Amino acid sequence: MGWNDWNTFNCDVSEKLIKETADVIVSSGLKAAGYEYVNIDDCWMAPQRDASGNLKADPVKFPSGIKAVADYVHAKGLKLGIYQSASTNTCKGLPGSLGYEKQDAKSFAAWEVDFLKYDNCWHTQGVAAQQRFTAMRDALRAAGRPIVYSMSNYGLDGVTSWGPSTGHMWRTEDDILLDWKSVLTNYRSNVGLASIGGPGGWNDPDMLQVGRGLTYEQDKSHFSLWAQMAAPLIAGNDLRSASTQTLSILGNRKVIAVDQDPLGRQGVRISSQGGLDVLAKPLANGDVSVVLFNSTDAPARISTTAARAGLPAAASYTLDDLWADTLRTTTGSISADVPAHGVVMYRVSAAVPDSVTLAAGGDGTLWNRTGVFDTNHYGAGWTRAGGTEMTRLTSTGTGRTVRYYGVAGGRVYGQDLDTGTGAWSGWHELPGGATGVRDISAARVGNVVHLQIAGWDGSMWSQTADYDAGRFNPQWTLVPSAGKTDLTALASVASGTLVRVYGVAYGRVYGQDLNTVTGAWSGWQELPGGATGVKDIAASLVGTTVHLQIIGGDGALWTQTGDYNAGRFNPAWTSGGGSGLKRLTSTTEGTNVHVYATTADGVRHTGLNTRNGSWTAWQQLPGEAIALADLTASTTAD
Ligand code: GLA
Repeated sequence: MGWNDWNTFNCDVSEKLIKETADVIVSSGLKAAGYEYVNIDDCWMAPQRDASGNLKADPVKFPSGIKAVADYVHAKGLKLGIYQSASTNTCKGLPGSLGYEKQDAKSFAAWEVDFLKYDNCWHTQGVAAQQRFTAMRDALRAAGRPIVYSMSNYGLDGVTSWGPSTGHMWRTEDDILLDWKSVLTNYRSNVGLASIGGPGGWNDPDMLQVGRGLTYEQDKSHFSLWAQMAAPLIAGNDLRSASTQTLSILGNRKVIAVDQDPLGRQGVRISSQGGLDVLAKPLANGDVSVVLFNSTDAPARISTTAARAGLPAAASYTLDDLWADTLRTTTGSISADVPAHGVVMYRVSAAVPDSVTLAAGGDGTLWNRTGVFDTNHYGAGWTRAGGTEMTRLTSTGTGRTVRYYGVAGGRVYGQDLDTGTGAWSGWHELPGGATGVRDISAARVGNVVHLQIAGWDGSMWSQTADYDAGRFNPQWTLVPSAGKTDLTALASVASGTLVRVYGVAYGRVYGQDLNTVTGAWSGWQELPGGATGVKDIAASLVGTTVHLQIIGGDGALWTQTGDYNAGRFNPAWTSGGGSGLKRLTSTTEGTNVHVYATTADGVRHTGLNTRNGSWTAWQQLPGEAIALADLTASTTAD
């Protein structure tokens, strides 16, 4: 992903333009959205090589030279691209690289260039394209710097057969023009090539014309189709004057995520009738991106089904409309009214049964298992997920991701589980340098994870992170303690914009709220019921009711509920049975609350049906799990 000057500026390129564009890629948020390469096209070089045959930058356009521009771009955390041609001259008649491949590749590497667009104009001295493009590939390799090799030979000379073994991307059509017909031509040449492109080498239908005068619908279609075809997204407009609307198209993160999906599959056209196309692109987490594209001049209804798009059979599917940013569910039909020249783009997920992921740190390591509530089936056993010295765990789930936080050696670590693929991200220590941490809890409000810890001094500290980016604040904030400086256990739930935190201090149970809008904490208040000697606490929300569970001083479960909005709890705790319980967690599935507790010899479960208030008998989970340090449960696919 990146930007190239050609579509807007042709030969009117300069170091000023490149630097200003690098600045705006950062300030506009496009860098954060994934745009990385700032690419200089034709006309950057002087009309003559120097006496030693080296390329020189045009002294008027690039008075500081290419290396200085590369330094500037690198300092912004971006990468620099440059242009040459596999011929005696570039398309604009400047010195080409034919016969100078090694020398020019060395110059590019010395200038610390990161990307080469290699063109195919003019006099090629009768040497076959594959040979000329291979010569530069070998020269780049020999120059010893990783340089993305983009081959611009317009889809000619059988490039789709030798392209994947020669470069990282190859053009599949002639130059894209600022013209809807041209966008269609390049789309149509590229759309059938799904079997050719993939990780390591991509079909390139040419750079984007978004933001240069096509209509809003055409711009969105162009961008969606390129993303759906896993094409390089190289903006070609003047970013310095880009409108908010243009930036909202180029910066649509959900569409970008489809383009950049790690599975790297190009979308396939699964139907095409009368100018109405349906494209399906399988994604790494099992979702499928579906584009309904209306290339005609009149609005039309376009329909397909989840099954035809390649999704597995399921009771229902979620359709995430990537432009309207709305969710809806369907039992299988995927259908929309699509404007002329427009698209509707959905990320489609098959609903998977609610499942619980349990984790325990018996040997100081995280162990994990997933179960389906409906069948009470917890799979064969526990799976080891790494870590050492873990003493406390918490987690929060959304969609198919469970984000785990653990305390190990008194410090706080986090890692993610993709329950779709089973992949773990690996533990990373959270910033803030907390030590001697006693317990941890997490609650998610919208896209923000609110973490709370009981610190070494028994006070509560908090910090937040963006769920998608996974980045935490650089430090912990001390929550006013009002003397509650002996916190040993924490639990929290979120509803609306409130985070309600429950803590055990001096063996008694306290609660307080964080208003995430104002950032204000309400202050600790003891919960009614007079529980003492409390060992652990868990909390779950069903509707607006908080279900609290504690392990009392007697090692049994005790529960009570509170009205979430009023914050009023019942005046007494109710016995929930069990004995020898050590650590506790709970999670919800619909209107059921599932409570899990560790004992000396494993994990026990009981469930509350909140509609009729009945609890299931305690049951031991199958699979050996002894000496567990802690337990956490998260419901995914919510
Ligand atoms: C060819 C390429 C364009 C551009 C020009 C530069 O036409 O296809 O993308 O690089 O050359 O002269």
